[in-house]
Amino acid sequence: MIIKKIVIGSDHGGFNYKAKIIEYLKHNNYDYIDVGTYSEASCDYPVIARKAAAKIVNGEAEKGILICGTGIGMSIAANKVKGIRAAHCTDTFSAKASRAHNNSNILCLGERITGECIALDIVNVWLKSEFEGGRHLRRVDQIEES
Ligand code: RB5
Repeated sequence: MIIKKIVIGSDHGGFNYKAKIIEYLKHNNYDYIDVGTYSEASCDYPVIARKAAAKIVNGEAEKGILICGTGIGMSIAANKVKGIRAAHCTDTFSAKASRAHNNSNILCLGERITGECIALDIVNVWLKSEFEGGRHLRRVDQIEES
């Protein structure tokens, strides 16, 4: 499968991991859109989450990665947007399952929670995992109906 574009964003709490993940994306030839934040100054994660979600909903990006201190605020905010299935992951098993079973289109990470190497492993697994469809499609469709 050809991955279109990855939208990536963070608040100040995820700023360092955003830079690390952008390095990973560049190194692995992913095209990406960085929706900020662009400094370590304090900012509001819902604003960034909505910007990233909009890029997916309007088709500019296929998938997104959002990082804040815990990953929780970003996932709550992103999941408010219709069509977004944001998965807050702290392990690779969940990251893979969130793609295979839930067709997650945003990965949320917490810079204050998950170690850097594990976070990069999660990104790698998540980007490479495919949705399995079948019975999982019926369930995802039920989510989208609500
Ligand atoms: C910012 O201090 C912090 O609240 C934010 O990064 C995030 O963890 C919220 O869920």
